[in-house]
Amino acid sequence: MSLTFTLDPAVTPALRDGILDLWTDVSNAGGAVGFVPPVTPEEIRPELVRQFAAMADGSRRLLVGHDEEGRVAATAFLTFNSHRLMTHWIWLYTVMVHPRHQGRGYGRDLLAAAEESARTFDGVDAIRLTCRGGLGLERFYGSCGYKEVGRIPNAIRVAPGDDRDDVIMLLPLH
Ligand SMILES: CC(C)(COP(=O)(O)OP(=O)(O)OC[C@H]1O[C@@H](n2cnc3c(N)ncnc32)[C@H](O)[C@@H]1OP(=O)(O)O)[C@@H](O)C(=O)NCCC(=O)NCCS
Repeated sequence: MSLTFTLDPAVTPALRDGILDLWTDVSNAGGAVGFVPPVTPEEIRPELVRQFAAMADGSRRLLVGHDEEGRVAATAFLTFNSHRLMTHWIWLYTVMVHPRHQGRGYGRDLLAAAEESARTFDGVDAIRLTCRGGLGLERFYGSCGYKEVGRIPNAIRVAPGDDRDDVIMLLPLH
């Protein structure tokens, strides 16, 4: 089995609902993608609508992985900087693989597809991302070639009394 990756798929109701289900299931399984459980698709929808708006104005690109049954199984958003002195690197956000597919190398395939896409963007020299500390994610991104370049202690308040570091990871493309 493998996933089929598409950059900038057509935004259809099936894609929208597939991403909402993915994002909800990943969040409710404890994934670090902006929400804490319990969360419903309706709570995530406004955030996804914002992503679609940014895609429409060209500031964000969507990479989607479909499984062999045609379900949305993985996503990542590649985001350009609006700051004129920072257009030579991009952000990677909302990296997720459906819990039913985790641990089989698809996460690494997703990061490889994101890197391949970024290499086709004119003048982009690096990919930067942040991840929540305490989940071992640095090890995952490290296995994909990213290096930890910074860490803001206790910047993410998952719950009262449960603060996590915000870890900055970087992948130079040259
Ligand atoms: C993080 C995530 C994308 C990884 O995808 P995956 O398909 O499970 O990962 P892979 O099977 O490709 O694993 C690649 C390597 O990373 C390691 N790894 C994966 N997830 C890990 C984690 N949470 N902590 C530590 N190591 C991890 C694997 O053990 C593997 O290493 P190995 O080759 O030495 O065995 C996926 O687990 C996920 O969606 N998690 C929830 C959402 C999330 O937290 N995203 C991160 C946002 S910053």
